[in-house]
Formats: sequence, C-alpha cells, structure tokens
Amino acid sequence: MPTARVTAAVLRERPGAICQRNGSHAEGLFRERRPIYTATMSLRARHLLGIEHLEPVEITTLLDLSDTFVDLNRRDVKHDTALTGLTQVNMFFEHSTRTQASFEIAGKRLGADVMNMHMQSSSVKKGETLIDTAMTLNAMHPDLLVVRHPSSGAVSLLAQKVNCAVINAGDGRHEHPTQALLDALTIRRTKGRLQRLTVAICGDIAHSRVARSNILLLGKMENRIRLVGPPTLMPAGAAEWGVEVCTNLEDGLKDADVVMMLRLQKERMDGAFIPSEREYYHRFGLDGDKLRHARDDAIVMHPGPMNRGVEIDGTIADDINRSVIQDQVEMGVAVRMAAMKLLADNLHAARAETEEMA
Ligand code: NCD
Repeated sequence: MPTARVTAAVLRERPGAICQRNGSHAEGLFRERRPIYTATMSLRARHLLGIEHLEPVEITTLLDLSDTFVDLNRRDVKHDTALTGLTQVNMFFEHSTRTQASFEIAGKRLGADVMNMHMQSSSVKKGETLIDTAMTLNAMHPDLLVVRHPSSGAVSLLAQKVNCAVINAGDGRHEHPTQALLDALTIRRTKGRLQRLTVAICGDIAHSRVARSNILLLGKMENRIRLVGPPTLMPAGAAEWGVEVCTNLEDGLKDADVVMMLRLQKERMDGAFIPSEREYYHRFGLDGDKLRHARDDAIVMHPGPMNRGVEIDGTIADDINRSVIQDQVEMGVAVRMAAMKLLADNLHAARAETEEMA
C-alpha cells in the first residue's frame, strides 16, 4: 500500500505554486496559473487503470497538465485539438451522472468523436460477456475506451483484449483513478501543496474505490492519512496500510487539513453494516459541531452523489467557505482532459513506431 518514497525533487513545490493559503480557499482555486505545457509530459503506461502503478512524478505531470486545462475551460472558446480524429467510447455498466458527463465534455473539448454506450440496454442484457462486447467494439477501431464496471478487475481484464487506450472510470471497490486525481488537483490548488497534509477520509471506506485510490495517491505524495468510520465499514487489514485508523469522527478530524466524506454505498452492502441512518448521522455525519475539531482552514470534500443528512449536513456541503465539492466537479473535467491527452500521445507514438517498422 502507500509506502512509496517520494524523491526530494518530486516533493519540491512547483514554480508558481501557491505556498501559503491566505484568505478563503477560493483564492487558491481561482488564482491565475502559468501554463506549464511541455513536451516532456508523459505517462509510461498505455492505459490508466489505477493509481497503484503511477509514479509520483507522473501524478505531478497529470496535475500540471490539468492546471492548463482548467484555464482553457474557463475561457469562452474551450476547444483544443489533442484528440482530433480520435474516437472515444464511454462504456458505463453502472449508472453514473457526473463521471460520464465529465468524460464526455472532456473528450468533446479536446476534439474527439465521443460515443456513449448504454450498457444497461445493450447486448450484455442478452447474455453477451464483457469480453465479447469488448471484442465487438474493438473491431470498430476506437482509440479511447472509458469503462465503469461493478466488478473489481473487470476494466483491466478488458484492457488486455483491446488495441486502444483504456481508462478505468471505477471498477467495483477497487480503483477510481480520475476521482483521486481530481481530488488531488482540488487539494493542491486550495492548499498550495500536495504533501505533508493531514487528510481524514471518513465514512464507508470498506466499499469505496474512491477511498482506495485516494489512499494510494495521497500516500505516494507523503501525506498523513486517517481513515475514520465505524469498524463495520473499515476494510480488514486497514491498520497495516501505513494509515491511522479511527472509529470516532471527532478524534479522527483532529488537526485535519482536508476532510473527505464518503457516501454510504448501500448498493454494495449485502447485510446490515449500520444500526440505522439516523444513528449513523448522529455519530459519523459531518455537521458544524464535528467540523470544529478539524483545523480552522480545513476544506470539506465529497465525490458525490451526496446523501444529505446521512453522511453530511446540507449546510456544510453548501458552505462556500469550507466546501470545495463544486470545485471537485470542475477539476474533474480538466483531469480527464489531461489523462486522455497523455494517453493519446502514447497511442500516436506507438502507432508511428509500428508504421516505421512496417
Ligand atoms: C463515486 C463512485 O462512483 O465511486 N462517485 C463518482 O464517481 N462520482 C463515489 C460514489 O458513488 O459514492
């Protein structure tokens, strides 16, 4: 788990990064950033299947490139040509609103031809296997496949069968890499750094791919991670992951710079994990009183969709001085643009090499 050591070079603050937060968090998020869009930006892998195999320097590269796309997305004319001529297919085997929309907007802004496959009404319903579906699609020469699937490992299995680049948009309880990257971008822009922060990840850790990807990413960048939730929602072996484990929200929030709340993933529970939602809110729901245990300038995050009055009080979620939940949505589009651009660069390079050899 998150034990990778990060070199001093990687830990150095980026030139132009905001080192000290002053005023509201919005100042960090909205300050103009100098685009650093260089030819040396690259990813080693052909696919983005998880945070697990990313080096800290690749995470920094992705976030630096995302910063430039945040600037682009705030302009009147938002087009880039990084994916022109490429076909992006979004295959979502689970319901999704924000993630699918975010990938679709990201692809369109970069000039891709984007197609959304409605897997709930597809041949999968008629008994076709995941691999058959992948092979059928592969024959149509897509360039980027964005896949969400309820089974852990399904996306990486599919990636082995196709010729294009694959992005994991969430597989079971395993990983959700673009969510962790957009969370990291939000944190880096509000706090001015992505190291030496105390991050409390709170709630249903056991069923959450968001938690898993965030633990990996924040660990690689040398942050202090605290998992907070009832023992029934804590994954077995969490204490050996190099994180702190806390079963009381007030204690878990102490001195936290970042408070990350998670949804109760009822669809992944096959039994009673909590006595009642009322009781859960009383003990683990984030409200103003509990938030007072965190640092005065702590930010509140949530990947959405939110259950107001279950894991978070609506007033906190809407408090623009504390909550960066809407900013996370904005950062999501930029991070997905960056990931798809870097994977498309690899795809072009691999194809050019094949042509040269032919
Ligand atoms: C998350 C997911 O699907 O894992 N949401 C998202 O990507 N917007 C978290 C969740 O569903 O609770």
